[in-house]
Amino acid sequence: MTRLKDAVDHIAKAVIKQRDLLDRLDSIGDSDHGTNMARGFNAAIEALDALEDDSTKNVLHTIGTAFSENIGGASGPLYATAFLRAASVCDKDTTFNIENVEKLLGAAIEGIKKRGHSDVGEKTMLDVLVPVYRCFTPEQAKDKTLYQCIEAAVKAAKKGIDYTKTIPATKGRASYIGERSVGHEDPGGMSSLIMVRELFNFLKY
Ligand SMILES: Nc1ncnc2c1ncn2[C@@H]1O[C@H](COP(=O)(O)OP(=O)(O)O)[C@@H](O)[C@H]1O
Ligand SMILES: [Mg+2]
Repeated sequence: MTRLKDAVDHIAKAVIKQRDLLDRLDSIGDSDHGTNMARGFNAAIEALDALEDDSTKNVLHTIGTAFSENIGGASGPLYATAFLRAASVCDKDTTFNIENVEKLLGAAIEGIKKRGHSDVGEKTMLDVLVPVYRCFTPEQAKDKTLYQCIEAAVKAAKKGIDYTKTIPATKGRASYIGERSVGHEDPGGMSSLIMVRELFNFLKY
């Protein structure tokens, strides 16, 4: 296994482990976010196992395809779009450095916004992913290593999830309960936080 496949494997297993937490947080929706993410990541692990070309581009494309083919609901197509859009801006030898992470995350977020007709402030994964993205922009990344940017991104993601608690959902199923969603963390934001945190943990040990 390459280091990238190892990292994805670590992140995927960590998200699958949090299935019950994510299902519970999705009580503001239909209590299936953890189940959906586990289905997507289990399919991704299987597809990655069989993968011969393990370039960044192909790994991201494979995850996106696994999500798009195996998850219904909102988060499946949205995360699928994110991974596929990130793959589409890679060339065949793209590796991870600050500049590339900014580019890939930027494309992923644009994909989610377009597909979801959504933006920050609506209690979605974007309230975590956009602050994470900002940690890799030239202003924020100045004088930092990639590792330090990812460390900052974990902090930004935690702030993002706290922010989702303070606002009502205006997109997705949680919007059906409107103001009653205030006080709850967004499940999609939490799955994004787990992915960023576990990337950091993978690099740390
Ligand atoms: N339009 C949207 N734009 C961005 N994210 C969204 C949108 N709709 C839902 N989400 C995200 O998807 C999560 C819910 O995912 P999930 O429960 O798997 O799908 P579903 O809501 O269809 O059951 C939400 O917590 C939110 O973060
Ligand atoms: Mg749901």
